[in-house]
Amino acid sequence: MRIAVITGASAGIGREFVYAVDRELRFDEIWVIARREERLQELREKCRNPIRPISLDLSDTENVKRYQALLEQEKPEIGLLINAAGCGVFGPFEEKDLDKLLMSARLNALALTAMCHVSLPYMKEGAAIVNMGSNSAWQPVPYQAVYGASKSYVLNLSRAMGRELKTRGIHVMCVCPGWIKTEFQQNAHHDDYIRYVDRWYGPDEVAEQAMKDLKKKKTVSILGHPVRRQVRLVKFLPVKLVMDIWCKQQGIQ
Ligand SMILES: NC(=O)c1ccc[n+]([C@@H]2O[C@H](COP(=O)([O-])OP(=O)(O)OC[C@H]3O[C@@H](n4cnc5c(N)ncnc54)[C@H](OP(=O)(O)O)[C@@H]3O)[C@@H](O)[C@H]2O)c1
Repeated sequence: MRIAVITGASAGIGREFVYAVDRELRFDEIWVIARREERLQELREKCRNPIRPISLDLSDTENVKRYQALLEQEKPEIGLLINAAGCGVFGPFEEKDLDKLLMSARLNALALTAMCHVSLPYMKEGAAIVNMGSNSAWQPVPYQAVYGASKSYVLNLSRAMGRELKTRGIHVMCVCPGWIKTEFQQNAHHDDYIRYVDRWYGPDEVAEQAMKDLKKKKTVSILGHPVRRQVRLVKFLPVKLVMDIWCKQQGIQ
């Protein structure tokens, strides 16, 4: 059985990845992972590929072992793994709830690491891993300190893992979009720390661009010229200046 596995499939970018994969590729099953089971079930009616909903809270990395047990039982070949589950806790670092901060770091960085690690034994030459990074991956981000750091981790992990996996013919790509209109915003912006957004993109646009970039075997997928320009600029400017500009844009100290 040849499958695709997509986390964060119940909403936003992950759900759009399910639709894009379903439109463009054929698998015996697409395994969709998130906490909200009913949202995952709905995908069954909307997709042509058979969908297997797997309800898991990935912020508890122990739960990745349940996915691993399923792999051991079914022994599928994983053609594509997309790690899109993620969340953000925005606001002053010292004022944010520690449990929430740790939960976001576990979900964004550690669960993604574990998903890659337990999936790799089931991947062959030609398979691919797509990890959701962010535009926040390229710089330290005050008032999103843990989120930005977790996304830098994802970017560096993806690049290093991709380099190692070249020998096995497995491609790894990190998706680093700017601002995307999804539920993420309501979940993360509890205390109005994002006041300036240059441009919103749609989650469908991110998935579409990523699928195109995956075919071209890009290692990083960035949607939109303004975001690409910003990434280039950030590489040349001193880190302190980049953080000062960010704070000034957001109207914070
Ligand atoms: N939106 C943006 O502006 C933006 C920009 C750059 C990068 N990103 C990244 O893109 C990815 C997707 O974000 P999004 O905007 O699509 O967010 P979203 O609409 O909030 O969707 C997040 C997805 O992750 C799942 N998820 C959240 N917590 C989970 C947990 N503990 N266990 C398992 N699944 C969990 C959610 O499903 P359940 O709630 O059903 O579990 C949902 O399917 C994230 O990694 C995010 O950091 C987003």
